[in-house]
Amino acid sequence: MLSLLPSFLCLAVIALHPVAAIWPAPQSFTKGSQVLYLHQNIRITYNGAFVRWSSSREHGCLAEDLDTEYWMSQQVPYTYGYSPSSLTSKEVVQAAVSRTLAGIFNSKFVPWQMHKPGSKFEPDLAQGQKWLQTLQIVQTGEDQPSAFKPLAGEVDESYNLTVSAEGDVQLTAVSSIGVLRGLETFSQLFYQHSAGTFWYTPYAPVAIQDAPKFPHRGIMLDTARHFFPVDDILRTIDAMSWNKMNRLHVHVTDSQSWPLVIPALPEVSEKGAHHPSLTYSPQDVQRIQTYGAQRGVEVYFEIDMPGHIGVVSLSHPELIVAYNEQPYYWWCAQPPCGAFKLNNTGVDAFLKTLFDDLLPRLAPYSAYFHTGGDELNKNDSMLDEGIRSNDSAVLQPLLQKFIDTQHARVRAAGLTPMTWEEIPLDWNVTMDKDTVVQTWLGGESVKKVTELGHKVIDSNYNFWYLDCGRGQWLSFDNGAAYVIGYPFNDWCNPVKNWKLIYSHDPTAGLTEEQAKLVLGGEVAVWSETIDPANLDTLVWPRASAAGEVLWSGRIDPATGQNRSQMEATPRLNEFRERMVLNGVRASPIQMMFCTQGSPKECEYPA
Ligand SMILES: *[C@@H]1O[C@H](CO)[C@@H](O)[C@H](O)[C@H]1NC(C)=O
Ligand SMILES: *[C@@H]1O[C@H](CO)[C@@H](O)[C@H](O)[C@H]1NC(C)=O
Ligand SMILES: *[C@@H]1O[C@H](CO)[C@@H](O)[C@H](O)[C@H]1NC(C)=O
Ligand SMILES: *[C@@H]1O[C@H](CO)[C@@H](O)[C@H](O)[C@H]1NC(C)=O
Ligand SMILES: *[C@@H]1O[C@H](CO)[C@@H](O)[C@H](O)[C@H]1NC(C)=O
Ligand SMILES: *[C@@H]1O[C@H](CO)[C@@H](O)[C@H](O)[C@H]1NC(C)=O
Repeated sequence: MLSLLPSFLCLAVIALHPVAAIWPAPQSFTKGSQVLYLHQNIRITYNGAFVRWSSSREHGCLAEDLDTEYWMSQQVPYTYGYSPSSLTSKEVVQAAVSRTLAGIFNSKFVPWQMHKPGSKFEPDLAQGQKWLQTLQIVQTGEDQPSAFKPLAGEVDESYNLTVSAEGDVQLTAVSSIGVLRGLETFSQLFYQHSAGTFWYTPYAPVAIQDAPKFPHRGIMLDTARHFFPVDDILRTIDAMSWNKMNRLHVHVTDSQSWPLVIPALPEVSEKGAHHPSLTYSPQDVQRIQTYGAQRGVEVYFEIDMPGHIGVVSLSHPELIVAYNEQPYYWWCAQPPCGAFKLNNTGVDAFLKTLFDDLLPRLAPYSAYFHTGGDELNKNDSMLDEGIRSNDSAVLQPLLQKFIDTQHARVRAAGLTPMTWEEIPLDWNVTMDKDTVVQTWLGGESVKKVTELGHKVIDSNYNFWYLDCGRGQWLSFDNGAAYVIGYPFNDWCNPVKNWKLIYSHDPTAGLTEEQAKLVLGGEVAVWSETIDPANLDTLVWPRASAAGEVLWSGRIDPATGQNRSQMEATPRLNEFRERMVLNGVRASPIQMMFCTQGSPKECEYPA
């Protein structure tokens, strides 16, 4: 009997002190164990003015409170499902308050998955309710016009959040984006009671100070190998905002398809889209960008060039070399090949028309435009009647001129250019120091780019490529090809599981000066074998692991050591549950035996 005692005590401790599963982890966090209930009549103020929260008929879970408006703001009508009418601080904050409360009330998160079967983990309703009284939001700084399309570092995303034992919540932030980050944290403090329409936090009093480690925390989505309808992209933005991720990089075209409608060049998507219905109109692009901006997620686009652009051959064959050449591996990394002719005035005229149309539409909502530049194969210019060479000495000056010209256009549109690492590292192209370079090849890439004085976004494929490890999409005929292909692994096998993703620090091995140039990173969703059917399960919660590294840092300030899987796992389990309940089909990371209050049994024995 005695030997059972310790495990009984341990259970009691778990029941009384559930993990406060804030994801990504705040920089500093203290909590108590007092229960406070959230009611929709909580008084919410933003810089002193009341923000009105009202329910509506759509809000079925609040049946007894339909159509009741509680607190009035003189200035602005405020409702469930509030959609901001403009990108202004107040509109954006009001919409975020609406989403936050609706998210808590609608997600119906009764966290039985996080507790031992049969255990009593919920507060006793019979003991009465101590209600949260006020949510006071104070923004201490004024948003600059760039707040909704910032360059890295231009917006202060820090916030402080306290919940007093008396039920007063104070959220302070310098910018409205900081308010959004704080509201997200606030929402993760709450659960629904299994008895019905009661929502509570068991963690009062709470004190949180928080700020991101890196200013650029992103996902790159490839919409050329597979098309993603607007709703899938908006859902991805939602999940990014829950993870406090703030950059969606849309790799919108590639040799396989051109889904982007360019009114000045309609033939490119007419001929280049997979199907007439699989296109992004200018309205779609604006909708995606504003949806992101309202959630503190800046959406920027990449047109990959001068390689990875074979699809233009379908509408403008005179501009492209090596389209669909075989065997593809002499001309490019994957079929169909195709690159811009590097010494062709028609290419330049095409790009002028393209950029004159596209860039002014993107610039109101993003600070960046990515001109690609990965995997340009020197052999392609052998087929270019204007060049007929694969000699670096011939090609390098042409590429330098190409980049200079296109980047000048990007800057003239008020945007900051980005490129893949090959442009400076393999081709020795020199660029102005404002250019942000995205690394992916691992090894010393990040270091080398910082040594050139460029800012870096890291997407090291050994860690942060979410497409890897799921097998070849090329088919291999029986015989010699079959033997070469067997066992049909893809080039970046194996799968990058969340723990491997979590282990990666883009600044590892850099000096302090070099590390300052690392703006952050992006996980990459190359979509050869990813489409809307498996997007969520492949991206989430693996992107969350990178999201925490980029927001919270690889080092846990509580220990001074690398963050621990033991500490992260129960939090990620709970956060994954929240994502699923909010409509994102994130994969489980453990079996339910582990999530249900047995985390210790699911640790590898020391
Ligand atoms: C959060 O609190 C700390 C410590 O008091 C203070 O230095 C910081 O400016 C506060 N941040 C915000 C956004 O209010
Ligand atoms: C260029 O083509 C030749 C064959 O003509 C091939 O041996 C070589 O590997 C190719 N170079 C690249 C970079 O693919
Ligand atoms: C590029 O084109 C110009 C103008 O047609 C020509 O003078 C030059 O020789 C070309 N350069 C190369 C490397 O082919
Ligand atoms: C350039 O072309 C020649 C002839 O096809 C080939 O042997 C060589 O490998 C090529 N160089 C590169 C860098 O691909
Ligand atoms: C870039 O410079 C390196 C080092 O000088 C050299 O080895 C390489 O061939 C150059 N690449 C090109 C494309 O000029
Ligand atoms: C901490 O993680 C980094 C990579 O992010 C790794 O290089 C380092 O070895 C780790 N340190 C320890 C003590 O595990």
